Amino acid sequence: MRVLVIHGPNLNLLGERQPEIYGSLTLAEVNELIAVAARDLGVSVDCVQHNGEGEIINAIHDARSSYDGVVINPGAFSHYSYAIADAISSVQIPIVEVHLSNIAGREAHRRISVTAASCIGSVSGFGPLSYVLALRALAQKTEN
Ligand code: DQA
Repeated sequence: MRVLVIHGPNLNLLGERQPEIYGSLTLAEVNELIAVAARDLGVSVDCVQHNGEGEIINAIHDARSSYDGVVINPGAFSHYSYAIADAISSVQIPIVEVHLSNIAGREAHRRISVTAASCIGSVSGFGPLSYVLALRALAQKTEN
């Protein structure tokens, strides 16, 4: 099984960006945790980060021919990008949404995710573990 992990805007600054909310691990360190979990699950994983909406849409489109599933943290796009929501709905492969922080407990504008509705499920609030849980869920779901 091949999974693509897409990190959205501003996640390249993990570690220095509001560590009280997003934690102190860098994106490279988060990707290492994901790689270890993937190895345990017997899943092959690639991680990419894009700041642009169009780049994320293209990554979702391209994933459909080379990956069996996607884990995505659309960052702030989660709250208003109908274009990314449409991209997720446009491909057949399963996609799981992830958030480091618990968006349900944050500012009003973050409580809604317009992209999550197009995904098969979402994991929010567990820091880097959110990615690991999403990967595990995706692997199990795809196995069944
Ligand atoms: C985030 C939550 C979003 O509201 C925010 O804009 C992010 C990160 C998270 O992982 O908690 O960039 O997606």
